[in-house]
Amino acid sequence: MNLSTRKKWDTAAQGYDLLTRGTDQRWAQHKAHFFSPMQGKVLFLAAGTGLDFKFFPSQQDITAIDISPKMVKLARQRAIEDYDGIIDIHEMDVHQMLFPDETFDQIYTACTLCSIPNPVEGLIHLRRVLKPHGELHMFEHTASHYPPFNLILNMMSPLMSRFGPEMNRDTVTNVRRAGFAIHRVENLHLDILKVICATRGKI
Ligand SMILES: C[S@@+](CC[C@H](N)C(=O)[O-])C[C@H]1O[C@@H](n2cnc3c(N)ncnc32)[C@H](O)[C@@H]1O
Repeated sequence: MNLSTRKKWDTAAQGYDLLTRGTDQRWAQHKAHFFSPMQGKVLFLAAGTGLDFKFFPSQQDITAIDISPKMVKLARQRAIEDYDGIIDIHEMDVHQMLFPDETFDQIYTACTLCSIPNPVEGLIHLRRVLKPHGELHMFEHTASHYPPFNLILNMMSPLMSRFGPEMNRDTVTNVRRAGFAIHRVENLHLDILKVICATRGKI
């Protein structure tokens, strides 16, 4: 368990909903569309405070993890209040998941590959728990190729990452480096906010 990451996100948990209220509203339609194909045995990394649960299709049986006990506590409450299916939330580090190999049909992430300490290593662990024909669906903000956004994101990242996410990760390349086969990359806002869909790739 990465204790400094856990501590950082525990500290962020209380103010998280307030800080993300703008994006929660602005991205609502995109998120509802993004989560709509959820089916089968699903892993959601990382639950945060559970703000995304309201976008999940109804009556699913979902497993979620998060490294922060404070996030997990808030998410468990939200799973009861905001969702009509099952969301089983575990306090767990993506780098040390206890699930057996090839457990899940689908894995969903939202604004998370900016936040886990070692994204390629984390993705390799996700690949391990995905079934051979399973799918990875990601809603992520990433680095940009366009000036001045690339410069701004590079400048913001060292400060932001002390309290929250890194702003300049090349998540598409990281997904490929972890061995996944990418099927679709859709830019939702410039090249900063993306949906990435992938499968396990060569086994
Ligand atoms: C930016 S928040 C996103 C939360 C949620 N997905 C959302 O969009 O509201 C990043 C989340 O990743 C979790 N996290 C960071 N490192 C992690 C790790 N190694 N394993 C599991 N969760 C982790 C944090 O605790 C935090 O809840």
